Amino acid sequence: MNNNKKLLEFIQKTAEVCRPDDIYWCNGSEEEYQLMVRLMIHSGTAIPMDPAKRPNSIYVRSSPADVARVEDRTFICSKLEENAGPTNNWSDPDEMKAKLIKLFAGSMRGRTMYVIPYSMGPTGSPIAKIGVELTDSPYVVANMHIMTRVGKEVLDVLGDTGDFVHGLHSVGAPLLDATDPDSPWPCNADHKYICHFPETREIWSFGSGYGGNALLGKKCHALRIASVQARDEGWMAEHMLILKLTNPEGQSKYITGAFPSACGKTNLAMLIPTIPGWKVETIGDDIAWMKFGPDGRLYAINPEAGFFGVAPGTSMKSNANALLAAERNSIFTNCAITPDGDVWWEGMSDEDPPRLTDWLRRPWMPNSGRPAAHPNARFTTPARQCPVVAPEWEDPKGVPIDAMLFGGRRGTVIPLVTEAYNWTHGTFLGSIVSSETTFAAAGKVGQLRRDPMAMLPFCGYHMGDYFTHWLKIGAATDPAKLPRIYYVNWFRRDAKGNFLWPGYGENSRVLKWVFERANGIAEAVDTPIGRLPAPGSLDVSGLELAPGALEVLLEMDAEGWINEVPLIKRHFETFGDRLPKGLHDEVKRLEEGLLKLKCSTL
Ligand code: GTP
Ligand code: SPV
Ligand code: MN
Repeated sequence: MNNNKKLLEFIQKTAEVCRPDDIYWCNGSEEEYQLMVRLMIHSGTAIPMDPAKRPNSIYVRSSPADVARVEDRTFICSKLEENAGPTNNWSDPDEMKAKLIKLFAGSMRGRTMYVIPYSMGPTGSPIAKIGVELTDSPYVVANMHIMTRVGKEVLDVLGDTGDFVHGLHSVGAPLLDATDPDSPWPCNADHKYICHFPETREIWSFGSGYGGNALLGKKCHALRIASVQARDEGWMAEHMLILKLTNPEGQSKYITGAFPSACGKTNLAMLIPTIPGWKVETIGDDIAWMKFGPDGRLYAINPEAGFFGVAPGTSMKSNANALLAAERNSIFTNCAITPDGDVWWEGMSDEDPPRLTDWLRRPWMPNSGRPAAHPNARFTTPARQCPVVAPEWEDPKGVPIDAMLFGGRRGTVIPLVTEAYNWTHGTFLGSIVSSETTFAAAGKVGQLRRDPMAMLPFCGYHMGDYFTHWLKIGAATDPAKLPRIYYVNWFRRDAKGNFLWPGYGENSRVLKWVFERANGIAEAVDTPIGRLPAPGSLDVSGLELAPGALEVLLEMDAEGWINEVPLIKRHFETFGDRLPKGLHDEVKRLEEGLLKLKCSTL
């Protein structure tokens, strides 16, 4: 319990509307986690895994109607529509609340309402922020235990007068009748709303129990609400991994990377370099909060405490550290289960197991003709269990950032790596990131879309103003103290559709180039799109690439870029007069550079 008036009022008002049978204050303890696990096992939500195979771990399958973020049901309810901008769904906050109150009314009947006080970031860190999520889902409580810092110490920091982000969540499946059985995955198939009220720092989420829809500390708080706070307070909330890279001489640099959902953040954050003597350690795999330190540099913390990672494709070959992290104390959602009580997913092993139960609760065999795990199946795992978690990953002051990467899934045009000329040019490169859509959100997969800074689904305000904020951050300090910015692309394909670049651990070669650029060692050539590795400056020793692949990966595809320019212009037009002049100038500079090049080669 706690005497914070705002908190007590929030709980009381919510209980009056949602009418739970009971209210439970979470303390973050191990006993509490075990209680949630037992509740989930009893209600059929979870199956305990064989403790000899994965100690203290559970297996959960959602409803097929609730498997990913729902971007078309996600709203930014700022007072003015223009402040949500052209890339967000908007609704008037009062109208939305009036509509939602009807859905939330009685929505927790027959259930317990859990009060989850959580800290995003090490509790008490000057960069950390507090939120309270009220939810009727034990699955959410258990996941929040792993993904955030939950409990009494958070209430202590909050005190009697502290402020917090108000998060309200209901799966929207009340148990009306005394004899109603609960569903193994309660959710509301007809009504889903993920709503953000940026001015009042509130989140109202209804109808889904999955991932970013329901674990409100993650995308809703740490990105959509925090991006607004960051704009107001002069810092950055970004969809970025944070890694520590150490060279053979023992010198370390910190690098962040923004890639759209399911485009490689978790993999890059804990990769095992293939080049001898280099080391990668993990600070965070999804979100970075960055503030200027007293020395004028940007310092980043990982606001989360765990990984909610994409399971399919994760193997001892592709990402051993993720698999080792998830060996115990983990939650596996929408994977397949083996007859002996372990989990499996596509890509985990070279050979498919002969017999499984799939995520749809059906018997599965290799010839079943459907994936055994949902493509957006996930593991929830404490970050501290990652074998390569950096010792300073919870440092409350954060780590100073030397470089930032942007990237997406592009089969063509975008080179393996490009260095920006300066912060404004880097902001431009981030603003034009495009990527093929993935299973991380409901909707069509493989569609090319612009996803600026990998924040398209996560920016809580007008994207044009967000670009302006980036430029302001760049102008707020000595340019020499800013991280250098890079645009990378691991997903270039040949005419047959095969990846030209092996990716994963081999991405360490690009990290090395980035590291050595900062040290003035690696050479680059200037092109209209930015600086590309000079011939021989990217370490490809011992790497077998298809003949001609490296040339394609590192070329400036002038024709391809000339075709991009009108697409970039059209993309920028959507932001109208909120597009900062700095970015207008960059697209002009790019176009002129490309034309000049074309003339000189004619
Ligand atoms: P979110 O958790 O949704 O934000 O995703 P993420 O950005 O952390 O992506 P993750 O690292 O989980 O990778 C998603 C998918 O991309 C997995 O299936 C990976 O196997 C695949 N992937 C990751 N890195 C590479 C790479 O370098 N090359 C290729 N070809 N695929 C990769
Ligand atoms: C993403 O989609 O970028 C994720 C997964 O990290 S979720 O938490 O569902 O948003
Ligand atoms: Mn993500």
